[in-house]
Amino acid sequence: MKEIIETISDELRRIASEGDAFVSLDDKSVEILKKLAGAAAQEAPQRAAPSQARPQKKTVPEEFVDDVKPMEFVSEVDMVKLDGKDDAPKKVKIVENIDGIAAIPKPKPFELPEGGKREQWEWLRDRVLNDPVCHEHLKPGKKVVFGVGNLDAKIFFCGEAPGADEEIQGEPFVGKAGQLLTKIIATMGLTREEVYIGNIMNWRPEVPKGNRPPTEEEMNYCLPYLKAQIAIVKPQIIVALGMTAVNGLLGFDPTRRMGKIRGTWQQFEGRDLMCTYHPSFLLQHASASMKRLAWEDMMTVMERAGMPVSEKQRGYFLPKQ
Ligand code: URA
Repeated sequence: MKEIIETISDELRRIASEGDAFVSLDDKSVEILKKLAGAAAQEAPQRAAPSQARPQKKTVPEEFVDDVKPMEFVSEVDMVKLDGKDDAPKKVKIVENIDGIAAIPKPKPFELPEGGKREQWEWLRDRVLNDPVCHEHLKPGKKVVFGVGNLDAKIFFCGEAPGADEEIQGEPFVGKAGQLLTKIIATMGLTREEVYIGNIMNWRPEVPKGNRPPTEEEMNYCLPYLKAQIAIVKPQIIVALGMTAVNGLLGFDPTRRMGKIRGTWQQFEGRDLMCTYHPSFLLQHASASMKRLAWEDMMTVMERAGMPVSEKQRGYFLPKQ
């Protein structure tokens, strides 16, 4: 039962992250949901009462101690002495919250070092891969994920956050959605090595199970790292994949709808920005006509990048006559 309800709520969160505030349900689905709700209510008393559940404690590194902005669901914030050394007591905030997720500090400002693109990129990669806050939010054995690709790419694909496969391999878009993105890139006549691929987030947002969209605090923490990658690569075009990427780059707007904004040119720090559907949305939910729309967005990108679009390419994903 718990799994079914978690699956449904994961799905609703995903739909919300795509920018849709409403879902339409037929009568049969409403009946099924009512039955599930009834069964869940009967199971509920057997679960531990919230006060008995032991929230997990996590620490925030000392250097960030003044910056901590607790997430909404943080239940308690303490200042403590950590290591017991009287001469140099360390203050560390310990945050308890219902989900056991550590509070996210504000990002520390930084400047890229002088030098060429490669040097700057390696410096930034090193900083991100060793960032204590990113590590704080990793499950044991999992990796921080930094962007990959051509530092002179004309096209910069920006996704949401690493998923299960990405946090194992430490590379963006290598799971099922990544395989679809790689196919889309190939259909455009390019390779992964010719474009740049990054994410809003450098770690996989923590949940006990499954995926969830990042919170605003999480996005704000990682955004300077994404912006710095864009500043190094200097792409002509950024492609925002999915609503989280759009909201991260353009600023959160609850009234924004993917169906309206996709296919239109936006601007991000003076660069052309194309917003389109996320590959995992295309994999799981998109109708044939939505796949065609996503492909039209990619053809628009190709045209703006000065790439030829063949007649064959123009015909992909058209409904069969
Ligand atoms: N989804 C994303 O948005 N990014 C990844 O790297 C993988 C899946």
